[in-house]
This record gives sequence, structure tokens and C-alpha cells, in this order.
Amino acid sequence: MPRRIRDTFLLLWLAGCAATDPRDPGIEYASQMYHSIPLEPYAQVDYFPYASDGKHLREPVAGTVPRGKVDFIYPFPNTNEGYEEAGKKLKNPLPPTPENVSEGKRLYSLYCIHCHGEKGNGRGILVESGKYPPVPSYYGPQLKDLPEGKMFHSITYGKNLMGSHAAQLTPTERWQVILYVQQLRAEGLAAEGNTANPSQKR
Ligand code: HEC
Repeated sequence: MPRRIRDTFLLLWLAGCAATDPRDPGIEYASQMYHSIPLEPYAQVDYFPYASDGKHLREPVAGTVPRGKVDFIYPFPNTNEGYEEAGKKLKNPLPPTPENVSEGKRLYSLYCIHCHGEKGNGRGILVESGKYPPVPSYYGPQLKDLPEGKMFHSITYGKNLMGSHAAQLTPTERWQVILYVQQLRAEGLAAEGNTANPSQKR
């Protein structure tokens, strides 16, 4: 190899190492091959000119259902009519097996007990603390005849002060928790009938 060419290579090689900052890559050849332009679908900071709506993340086609989530389709709208319809047409697809009820109890103690109380009388720890307004008892006049479809509707969308629990509970879990709510209601009504404890009423 001719000397001059060899020296040029040596010089380039040394120049490549000249950087003292270990994070400095030195002279980069074809830098656009190392540094691609990243798309940030979940933290979009700029307008993406190649999509008509400027978003990095594409919207799913209308009506798309994620795999395994067919039972998430809920036909009743969040209106008074939808609530009434759900009350008439929606039935629990799960049988009240011990497994379903005990799973419902577990979920209830995670997501409902602090407002509705251990016995479902509306005396949860939040209500007792005085920081939350009264919650109706499952076996009080307001809810003792509430159909399960309306329960599902209210758990799905929320109702007044109660927020939606659709993000915490899958449809199957909502039905399991309803089985447990119905058990609490039956127990509460039976206890009222037997012992007539007025402090349990609301
Ligand atoms: C932050 C407190 C809070 C939590 C948590 C909560 N609820 Fe409620 N819930 C309420 C209040 C308040 C109402 C009364 C709403 C109304 O009718 O104005 C209510 C009403 C209801 C009703 C009656 C709905 C209707 O259509 O009248 C059901 C059933 C119910 N809750 C079940 C549950 C279940 C099951 C959970 C847990 C998954 C839960 N709630 C969690 C506060 C709560």
C-alpha cells in the first residue's frame, strides 16, 4: 500500500478516536443510518405530515373489537332509555356457582366495599368517615328491587356519584360482583325480616 494512502487512513482512524467524551461517537459516517426519525405513538409531540389527521398512531377502523374482547360490546347507550332497556333485557349469563360468588366477593372487597360497606348497607368506610355523601343500601327502598341489568348498566357507565367501573372489571367480573351484591341484598332483606334492625335501614 502506498505510504500516503496508509497515512491518510491512520489520520482518519486517529481522528475517529480523538473524542474525549465517552458518549461522543466521534466522526460518524452516514449518520442518518444510525439516527432514524422515531415515531412516538404514545407521546406524540409533533405533527406527523404523512397522516391526514397528523397522528403517529393510527385509529382503529370504526367497530374494531380487540381480540378476545367480544363480550365488551355493550349495546345499551348511556341514556335513561338505555338504562331502562338494560333493566328489561340484560340477564346475567353466569350461574351463581360458589366459584363465581366468591370471586364476586373478592372483587367487591377490592372495588366496592369502601363505599357500599361490608354488608352492602351503604355504610362503607368512606361514608362512615363523613367525607362521602350517603350511599344507598342494596336492600333499602331505592335498590331492593333493582334488576340485574340496571346494576350492570350502572357499574359499566357509573351513576351520579358512583364512577364507571368498566376499566377495573371485565364484563364477566361485573357479573360475578353482581352475584355477590344480590347475595348481600338477600342476606340483608332476610336479616331485616328476622331481626328488624332499624339501624341497618336507609
Ligand atoms: C366511590 C363510592 C362508590 C364505589 C367505589 C362504588 N359505588 Fe356503587 N354507588 C355509589 C353511590 C353513591 C350510588 C348511588 C348512585 C345514585 O343512584 O345516585 C351507587 C349505586 C350503586 C348501585 C345501584 C345503581 C342503580 O342503578 O341504581 C349498584 C348496583 C352499585 N352501586 C354497585 C356497585 C359495585 C358492584 C361497586 C364495585 C364494583 C360499586 N358500586 C362501587 C357509590 C359507589
